[in-house]
Amino acid sequence: MLKAVVLIGGPQKGTRFRPLSFEVAKPLFPVAGVPMLQHLVEACAKVPDIKEVLLIGFYQPNEELSRFLASAQQEFKISLRYLQEFASLGTGGGIYHFRDQILSGGPCAFFLMNADVCSAFPLADILRFHRRHGDSHCGIILGTTANRKQSLNYGCIVENPETNEVLHFVEKPSTFVSEIINCGIYLFTPEIFGHLGTVFQRNQEERLQEGPLCTRQMAEVIHLERDIFTMLAAHKQLYVYKTQHFWSQIKSAGSAIYGSRLYLKQYHETHPERLATNQEGAPKIIGDVYIHQTANVDPTAVLGPNVSIGKGVLIGAGVRVRESIVLHGAVLQDHCCVLNSIVGWGSVIGKWARVEGSPSDPNPNDPYAKIDSETLFRDGSLTPSITILGCNVNIPSEVIIRNSIVLPHKDLNRSFKNQIIL
Ligand code: GDD
Ligand code: GTP
Repeated sequence: MLKAVVLIGGPQKGTRFRPLSFEVAKPLFPVAGVPMLQHLVEACAKVPDIKEVLLIGFYQPNEELSRFLASAQQEFKISLRYLQEFASLGTGGGIYHFRDQILSGGPCAFFLMNADVCSAFPLADILRFHRRHGDSHCGIILGTTANRKQSLNYGCIVENPETNEVLHFVEKPSTFVSEIINCGIYLFTPEIFGHLGTVFQRNQEERLQEGPLCTRQMAEVIHLERDIFTMLAAHKQLYVYKTQHFWSQIKSAGSAIYGSRLYLKQYHETHPERLATNQEGAPKIIGDVYIHQTANVDPTAVLGPNVSIGKGVLIGAGVRVRESIVLHGAVLQDHCCVLNSIVGWGSVIGKWARVEGSPSDPNPNDPYAKIDSETLFRDGSLTPSITILGCNVNIPSEVIIRNSIVLPHKDLNRSFKNQIIL
């Protein structure tokens, strides 16, 4: 029997996802039409041995999360539970704290996944690789290749190319270490908890020797990448399984649009029913497009490529949407144009208005390029990126909003360019 654990983080994370994370926890943000987490749960449900998926985070449980748990549980016929940390315990502290829950029922191994990644989740391949390597290890890391410069933003892995043993692991190094990066998807055997216990004990002892209580870090906070992987690599207890399938982080709103593109492409194989097709009397579809069944799109509109239209969205005559995510309840009035943007819940874009951002796609000429999830500002100015309209924003007719971020509940009265509209 196997289990899966997903690290979903908590409210103070996901800052690069504002203002969208004001309305919904980032793991529930829809990518290619369904909540980010659903792609992970679906991947787990496809592995027959996985009997339970545990989400670990420090979000207060809310209605939206409960609704997601209930509906995913029913749809994918898999046990799904949320375990709340009392504080942010890091990527290793949460699983150590909830070790009894993870080990109940006696799983022989468990998958651990970061929620903020978009991937083909080759779980069956990882499992096969694990079984081939017998009992000689306590963990497998899913790895992929990045270019030299971008590798510095990830955990970097040096392997023995013959055996795939991890020789070194360095989290976000300051100089080049390796082009193989950590995808944030792992398989561990229960032995991992012995190592986590050792780190916990050490933290506890160090804490007792340190200065004033208020400055001490909790012993419960453990970072897998720094505290565990380095140690396991030294003990030859870790292997890397490299995937050729797609993989990307979802840190910023721009990377959500890119992630949508990757998942929409995958739908051709996994969920063709989720892709819109060209039909008589229906809007023109270019490339991969998802339209929620309750959305109402005028047949003269043109959508795609890479467009996701949410629940109850209204799209008028002559509208053009491309490389964008339109969230539920938004209204796109006649002849407006939306390019490289995210349109928030319940926002209204007036007639002939134009909402446009700059794509932040990875370099198409570099097969190993990843998306740069940059911070909002570079050299004191807003970096050109996709345009984001928070929820319930009103854009009047005939204005142009370009490379801007509009906070929720704003009624704009003119055009804006390169601004954060507070
Ligand atoms: N439950 C819980 N508690 N989850 C957490 C916590 C915590 O205290 N801290 C982070 N997470 C979750 C995040 O929500 C995210 O899904 C994942 O753990 C990793 O988040 P970060 O700590 O922000 O790390 P990162 O994304 O910059 O880097 C990690 O992922 C990369 C791949 O995407 C590292 O594992 C890198 O080595 C790796 O390359
Ligand atoms: P392509 O030549 O199709 O690749 O477009 P482009 O990349 O040169 O132009 P852009 O990215 O600005 O526009 C993307 C799509 O939106 C194009 O297919 C345009 O025809 C369409 N488009 C651009 N501006 C408007 C507009 O104001 N209204 C409408 N309805 N469509 C527009």
